[in-house]
Amino acid sequence: MAYETIIVEIEDHIALVKLNRPDAMNALNDTLLAELADVLTAAQKNDKVRCIVVAGTEKYFAAGADIKMMSDKSFVDVFMGDLFGAETAAIARVRKPIIAAVSGYALGGGCELAMMCDFIICSDTAKFGQPEINLGVIAGLGGTQRLTRAIGKAKAMDMNLTGRFMDAEEAERAGLVSRVVPAKKLMEEAMAAAGKIAEKSMISVMAVKESVNRSFETTLAEGMLFERRLFFSMFSTEDQNEGMTAFLEKREAQFRDR
Ligand code: HXC
Repeated sequence: MAYETIIVEIEDHIALVKLNRPDAMNALNDTLLAELADVLTAAQKNDKVRCIVVAGTEKYFAAGADIKMMSDKSFVDVFMGDLFGAETAAIARVRKPIIAAVSGYALGGGCELAMMCDFIICSDTAKFGQPEINLGVIAGLGGTQRLTRAIGKAKAMDMNLTGRFMDAEEAERAGLVSRVVPAKKLMEEAMAAAGKIAEKSMISVMAVKESVNRSFETTLAEGMLFERRLFFSMFSTEDQNEGMTAFLEKREAQFRDR
């Protein structure tokens, strides 16, 4: 399917999804959100895809929800229509790993989209922010929730209340991103990380994602039980046997997702 606001390339088991609205710094409008949901749902179903990378351009990942699209809406419009982001529920249903490769601005819905991914690798030029307060609103796709879990109350309050931007160095220190790399190396680094993941058993990969995400939804005791049960269940797979045998035979494992 040809998309209007997204470019998709599938190669070496990695789906690279590039946001593509250059005239609005990749601002998230209805079309982009719907196309993103569609492409990620398709990637989940496509057996050739083992990892997904979502990226923008070197100057911007995404500058937020499209302000033009939101400006004339009323409470009744947005409440009754569940407008601006209901499509992102499809992203949460993706069980394969998604890496956000962020360079330049990731603001508002852009920052929130990056946080919906499983982890963020950013360039040294990245700027994260939840500037919705400057528009007389608040974050609406996780900027007060996922951000608080990622970087803690003090910084999340600071970002959401002042609308200031956080640079890459601070984002790494705060735990928002997993790695910072020079801008020119960002896509290489993100694709290499995706390539590493693509080599693993998809059964373990999907179990890791499910288990880490569960930690946000439950108590430590319940989370530990969930992890232990999933860990035990891995011993029913051929890949467990292959992984451990390969280690003992000092060779690379050949996982078959079985
Ligand atoms: C619509 C946007 C946009 C946005 C940028 N543009 N951000 N259009 N929605 N969120 C457009 C500008 O209108 C402009 O178009 C072009 O992109 C370039 O932007 P400039 O402002 O001229 O560039 P610059 O001076 O470099 O500043 C970059 C910037 C600034 C710092 C990123 O554009 C900015 O502050 N953008 C808004 C960021 C923001 O408030 N995001 C939160 C949105 S609310 P023209 O046609 O004039 O050239 C949100 C809610 C999410 O995300 C929750 C619900 C989904």
